[in-house]
Amino acid sequence: MMKIKKGVQLIDQHDKNYMYGGKFGGNFIPETLKKPIDDLTKLFFKLRKDKKFLKERDYHFKNYIGTPTPFIKLENLTDHLGGAQIYAKVVSEANGGAHKIYNATVHCLIAKRAGKKYIVGDTGAGYAGKMLSMAAKKFGLKCKIFMGAKDIKRQRPNVQAIKKNGAQIVPVTTGSQTLVDAVSECMRYWVSNCDTTHMCVGSTVGPNIFIKICAWSTAQISRELMVQVKEEFGKIPNKLKLLNCVGGGSSAMGFWNEFMNTNAEFIGIEAGGPRKSKLHAAPLTNGSKIGILHGAAQYVVQDKEGQISPTESISAGLDYPGISPLHCFLKDTKRASYVSATDEEALNAYKLVSKLENISPSLEPSHAFAHAISISPKLKKSDVIIVNSCGDSLKDKDIIKSKLGTYIR
Ligand SMILES: Cc1ncc(COP(=O)(O)O)c(C=O)c1O
Repeated sequence: MMKIKKGVQLIDQHDKNYMYGGKFGGNFIPETLKKPIDDLTKLFFKLRKDKKFLKERDYHFKNYIGTPTPFIKLENLTDHLGGAQIYAKVVSEANGGAHKIYNATVHCLIAKRAGKKYIVGDTGAGYAGKMLSMAAKKFGLKCKIFMGAKDIKRQRPNVQAIKKNGAQIVPVTTGSQTLVDAVSECMRYWVSNCDTTHMCVGSTVGPNIFIKICAWSTAQISRELMVQVKEEFGKIPNKLKLLNCVGGGSSAMGFWNEFMNTNAEFIGIEAGGPRKSKLHAAPLTNGSKIGILHGAAQYVVQDKEGQISPTESISAGLDYPGISPLHCFLKDTKRASYVSATDEEALNAYKLVSKLENISPSLEPSHAFAHAISISPKLKKSDVIIVNSCGDSLKDKDIIKSKLGTYIR
């Protein structure tokens, strides 16, 4: 039986082959990437313990990203639903509008230490690209963003932001033209350019070092939340549920990390896709098998022959056939549970939250709100639900307008 160790960071609970629970993760990489990945791993291990680097990171988290982000009670939603008390960690208030800024900032700081002048990254919803282009501009790096052609069309505001920040967008027209193809193309580019260029993977996916850097960076969210929860309740509530949408899984890892050894319940919400379609992007909920994607073993939406299957979700950020090996490990150890919400449920949740509250979640966190809305009425006032509102609806304005006929923010 797989077990999570107490007192060891989750990201470090792998064996010598970088596998979690002996099954998930690893470094399934071409020979040419072995040295760049070894070098990056060595550098990150050094920087993780370097007081000057940590001071620099904390300085930028505070003065550039603007942490801590707010932690608020959703009084109207709580009253409307009855049942549990519902709170939000409003990570969309971070500079740029989403959690992707933590990973992007840390990668730029590492790239500078590595003496690299160029940085490349993937994006789906456009936030990882927007944040990397922002951080690259701030730290003086030249930036290229790989983005699926389908996502370029559906996430216009973030595409405009990437361009405004002076980064080059490389449209990816292979495969499904979404995040999965953008990550593949970005990795392919890096194989040929790793001498001069640093790569930022936009979520907790990819070869192990990228999972580590990303989860380590976003962990700031739960460090802040821990302080805020203790301030609000005087202690960690006995019946606490932390709800987070999961695409690759970086916001959920950041939201849960500090609570790993507490009684808090972790629920990850995957993209169930359109109600009437068989397509989805929910490998954990739908019992998908293990496969290798982007250099790591994980549960992957696949067909009988082991080929990646097409996925579908209204939310570009969750529209990904794989999932972080860390989440596969959390699922198999039963530390976290995973469910899915459909496109329609996410849209309804967006509408209700935006109508009742002064926040307006993007379609990714709207999946998590949909689950909060479904379970809250059955719970008691002593139950506390906190949702990570990790993105702002502005980027989804066109999609929301076309589906609901109006846009509320
Ligand atoms: C706002 C937002 N939330 C969630 C996600 C899903 O990614 P992850 O699971 O890595 O947080 C994305 C991805 O683009 C996003 O933009």
